[in-house]
Amino acid sequence: MKILVTGGTGFIGSHTCVELIESGHEVVIVDNLYNSSIEVLDNIEAISGVKPKFYKVDILDRPSLEEVFKENDFDAIIHFAGYKAVGESVSIPLTYYQNNISGSLNIYELMQKYHVDNIVFSSSATVYGDNFEVPFKEEYGQGDTTNPYGTTKKFNEIILTDFARANKDISVVNLRYFNPIGAHPSGLLGEDPEGTPNNLVPYIAKVATGELDHLRVFGDDYDTPDGTGVRDYIHVVDLAKAHLKAVEYATSHKGAEVINVGSGKGYSVLEVLKAYEAACGKKLPYKIYPRREGDIAVCYADTTKAKELLGFEVFRGIEDMCRDSYNYMIRHKK
Ligand code: NAD
Ligand code: UD1
Repeated sequence: MKILVTGGTGFIGSHTCVELIESGHEVVIVDNLYNSSIEVLDNIEAISGVKPKFYKVDILDRPSLEEVFKENDFDAIIHFAGYKAVGESVSIPLTYYQNNISGSLNIYELMQKYHVDNIVFSSSATVYGDNFEVPFKEEYGQGDTTNPYGTTKKFNEIILTDFARANKDISVVNLRYFNPIGAHPSGLLGEDPEGTPNNLVPYIAKVATGELDHLRVFGDDYDTPDGTGVRDYIHVVDLAKAHLKAVEYATSHKGAEVINVGSGKGYSVLEVLKAYEAACGKKLPYKIYPRREGDIAVCYADTTKAKELLGFEVFRGIEDMCRDSYNYMIRHKK
């Protein structure tokens, strides 16, 4: 298949491109390099042997985006491009709605105009909000989101579901990711955000490399075994493989589906820290801080549907995630 990957030079997109290429698909990337770099293309090539065709295009730039659709006859789209910082989305909500909603609408309208029938969308477990009991099941629907970023994911799921309902040829898979971490085992692809990371593992990684002096543990008084927050971490390579299965599923089915992509297991902040200490072979300092606003105590996936519809299961555990993250950090230490 010829697959358009928006946001394909980003963290999850780049790993997904490798999996698609290694399975014989042709990949075309659209990314404005807002949160990724052009060198990623060489690293995808170093791993997979193929350098994907690349367009430095902003999805908000409708005429340039349309040129991409005119020049290529796509079988499917995997749509990763978007902003993802929860805290920032609270400060600049309109920028988030513009990029994540208007940008996405450009993709969906061009998809309709150029008869591309299949799409996989990057949604998030954040759409469950704090309304439901774990494990989170797709049949719960959507909860109350607590920030504009989460609301953009919710709207995109709704827009795509309506689109599929109105067009019998359209197939949509909304993948709800839990917490993707880790890196490619080659050390060539991974995530190392600029500035102070918001998310747990990128933060721990910078403590491990000495760039930050201690982990701030946000709350130790949750109703969890050790009092710290519990999340469902998934290795980014496993997540990338889920996209391969999802896009193949999309092309052989019609209508819209929502599918969780997680491991189904929860790890506390202190358990993740311990696993990272084992990976880097040293003690990592931490201090307890107050709870972070908007956090829930426990979040993990019911993975039954991913297994039933996609035949998807994770193969990498928390040790692999921490080892591959640290390996990437060491190679990329600034
Ligand atoms: P990322 O920032 O590494 O990748 C996103 C890519 O999209 C970047 O390369 C960026 O340059 C590009 N981009 C952003 N706006 C664009 C625009 N207007 N035009 C063209 N390109 C644009 O993020 P990621 O972690 O790989 O996440 C990919 C997707 O998955 C995002 O939609 C994100 O919201 C979603 N998601 C991520 C997580 C996570 O924890 N990483 C969890 C749930 C959902
Ligand atoms: C966060 C977002 C979620 C988004 C996801 C993307 C919030 C409230 N939620 O999820 O919407 O989809 O990222 O990956 O921002 N923690 C610390 N210290 C830190 C960082 C985190 O103790 O420096 C704790 C958190 O309190 C939480 C756990 O680690 O218990 C995981 O946090 P994080 O990695 O930010 O992910 P989520 O909060 O699950």
